[in-house]
Amino acid sequence: MIEVRAVVKRFGEVPVLEGVSLELERGASLGILGASGSGKTTLLRIIAGLELPESGEVLMDGRVVSRRGWGMAPHRRGLGFVFQSPALWPHMTVAGNVSFGLRSLAAPEARARLGRIIEDTGLGRLEQRYPAQLSGGQARRVAIARALAPQPEWLLMDEPLSNLDRAARDEMLALVEHIVAESRAGLIYVTHDESELERLACRVLRLTEGRLIGDETR
Ligand SMILES: Nc1ncnc2c1ncn2[C@@H]1O[C@H](COP(=O)(O)OP(=O)(O)O)[C@@H](O)[C@H]1O
Ligand SMILES: [Mg+2]
Repeated sequence: MIEVRAVVKRFGEVPVLEGVSLELERGASLGILGASGSGKTTLLRIIAGLELPESGEVLMDGRVVSRRGWGMAPHRRGLGFVFQSPALWPHMTVAGNVSFGLRSLAAPEARARLGRIIEDTGLGRLEQRYPAQLSGGQARRVAIARALAPQPEWLLMDEPLSNLDRAARDEMLALVEHIVAESRAGLIYVTHDESELERLACRVLRLTEGRLIGDETR
């Protein structure tokens, strides 16, 4: 379970989050809608532990993982993060990128897990390519595969369809839908485009003026 309690965040004088609260049961799927600049990325980064709140707390399974001045390390939170840009490691192949989170596993298990995730994400023929040799949609698929490989409890997605053409967007939406249905991971998906949430999220909140409002259950 993820709980965000009264989180406040400012950058300098600019208030971004002004008391954001949220409760999510394990395995839930939540969409967060907000205009550009409304603080969507900041909220995800705070949940992930990449940014600390000024006040308020984040809890996971009842335990405080972030508060003012202290946060549990991001890699210990059981989260997979797909950033707004794919942010792949350019010197590693597709297989290398996806395997990165599997380093702690024994080699045969890591290989089996890699094979499965490569197949699930349709990256079979691209395994030995480098990021510079991929299309935007393919790079995005690698980022999703990399985030899912360690079997996270939660998948956080930050506008994963931005800068993709129509066909790649449709393909990616179908992939995310498939993944969410197949895996036990919960999803927090932020976007400015309501249409992306129709098939993905059973619950939608709006981020506006620094607060989360309008709980809609679908
Ligand atoms: N590291 C930062 N330093 C200063 N201002 C920032 C920083 N990150 C974000 N901001 C500002 O915070 C606001 C919210 O940004 P962001 O969370 O990226 O919004 P969104 O993802 O919804 O577009 C914006 O006004 C942005 O300029
Ligand atoms: Mg953003």
